[in-house]
Amino acid sequence: MKISFAKPGLPETGALVVFGRKDGALEGTAAELEERTGGALSRAMAASRYDGSRGDVVEILAPGGLDASRVLLVGIGTPAELTPVEIEKIGGRIAARLLSSGEAKVTVALDPFAGGPVDAGTAAVAIATGLKLRSYRFDKYRTKEPAKKKPSLTEAVVMTDAHEGAAERFEERKAAIAGVFLTRDLTSEPPNVIYPESFAEEIKQLATDGVDVEVLGEAEMKKLGMNALLAVGQGSAHESQLVVMRWFGAGGETQPLAFVGKGVTFDTGGISLKPSEGMDQMKWDMGGAGIVTGLMRALARRKAKVDAVGVVGLVENMPSGRAQRPGDVVRSMSGQTIEVLNTDAEGRLVLADALWYTQDRFKPALMIDLATLTGAMIVSLGHEYAGFFTDDETVAGRLGECGAATGDKVWRMPLDKAYDKLIDTPTADVKNIGGKWAGSITAAQFLKRFTNDVPWAHIDVAGVVWSEKDGDLYEKGATGFGVRLLDCFTRNYESDPA
Ligand code: BES
Ligand code: MN
Ligand code: ZN
Repeated sequence: MKISFAKPGLPETGALVVFGRKDGALEGTAAELEERTGGALSRAMAASRYDGSRGDVVEILAPGGLDASRVLLVGIGTPAELTPVEIEKIGGRIAARLLSSGEAKVTVALDPFAGGPVDAGTAAVAIATGLKLRSYRFDKYRTKEPAKKKPSLTEAVVMTDAHEGAAERFEERKAAIAGVFLTRDLTSEPPNVIYPESFAEEIKQLATDGVDVEVLGEAEMKKLGMNALLAVGQGSAHESQLVVMRWFGAGGETQPLAFVGKGVTFDTGGISLKPSEGMDQMKWDMGGAGIVTGLMRALARRKAKVDAVGVVGLVENMPSGRAQRPGDVVRSMSGQTIEVLNTDAEGRLVLADALWYTQDRFKPALMIDLATLTGAMIVSLGHEYAGFFTDDETVAGRLGECGAATGDKVWRMPLDKAYDKLIDTPTADVKNIGGKWAGSITAAQFLKRFTNDVPWAHIDVAGVVWSEKDGDLYEKGATGFGVRLLDCFTRNYESDPA
């Protein structure tokens, strides 16, 4: 969808959106409309249950006295309670409502936002962001969709007195949005299309953004001793890959920020096979790697003044005559031995080597890993928050702040060596399952042993990379969660590395 900004006025075609406050009078463009249409807005309000609450919508088709083909009066509630995140959601609702309505163009008149706690320019950028994010659809495989159901909306104009500044700021915002869309694309693709080698090929496209991409195959990983990662992929017909993405926005001489992603392109569970019901969902078990890839695009496109590396471990977890067995002991790159008691706890095996490799090679200032690591994370936090684990108070504070600022909400979970006894085993240095309780925490404690005490955070995104329901900013499916969170985090780090 093409988005532009313009100064206020009445459009000649398409849908027109005006806003109303809770129990408030019509003002600005809405007042002008009311007059032009001989009171159509107030009559529509009276005829419906619209009262200006945030998210209320009343729609008037083909209003007399006006060129626009329809008017939407959208409630914003009490302006004092609005934040950019809430305004984005309003933009998202407008897109959802009009996407397949038959309208090609929407013009959004922002007047009532002026004078509120969120300045007009920020509100305009937020509305535009919501419109853009919610208009994404992964439909490349729908070849027989009736024309009537296809999206019609291709253009949005956001009208505000602050249009010039808003246009400039939205240009920069497009970098993060492109990152979110790449993450959604990768996460949505079926597992016969995205597998380790094809995922790596897709990542190579980031070279066009100025990202340096390097792919390690099984022979190279074998040499490095990455036997934990390789063990996960050994039952698959596809070759495992480790992909390194580098963005040298600060010249490449500083200690980088490192982002590490779990990229299990399909998780059957391996020999510890998952039940068939819902197994298709495990195509998005590469969601962490998808976030890292989208983030690297976002950083590069906005020319972030930071040195960053993204590392993704790409494997397919399949049962076969060559697959690893429960009971196997593998020697990880770190030298620590791991007893594999459940081949379905594979993500931590992939990350054990990916994390060790990342700290060993890049000496990062900080590592953040993202993984759809545990079902237990969904038991804890459901689909609203991702859970994160870190011993670093500054990082914890910043992740929380960026979660609130971007709407990619995160909640801190504990790390504590008291949990370590649950993953100790007499057979090896560590075992890959921790038993019935605190499954997300024992998984995090496992990862911590492979960080070599480099500052680190782990974000378990199992509950948030995919949604069974439409959200404010996404259609059901891949959400793109995490890209904006870490783009924000990186931005704060750029201005204050402390
Ligand atoms: N990829 C799964 C975790 C998962 C489950 C993510 C459901 C999203 C939705 C992970 O590899 C896994 O299978 N974890 C096991 C670990 C257990 C065997 C210790 C789990 O959570 O059941
Ligand atoms: Mn698994
Ligand atoms: Zn998995």
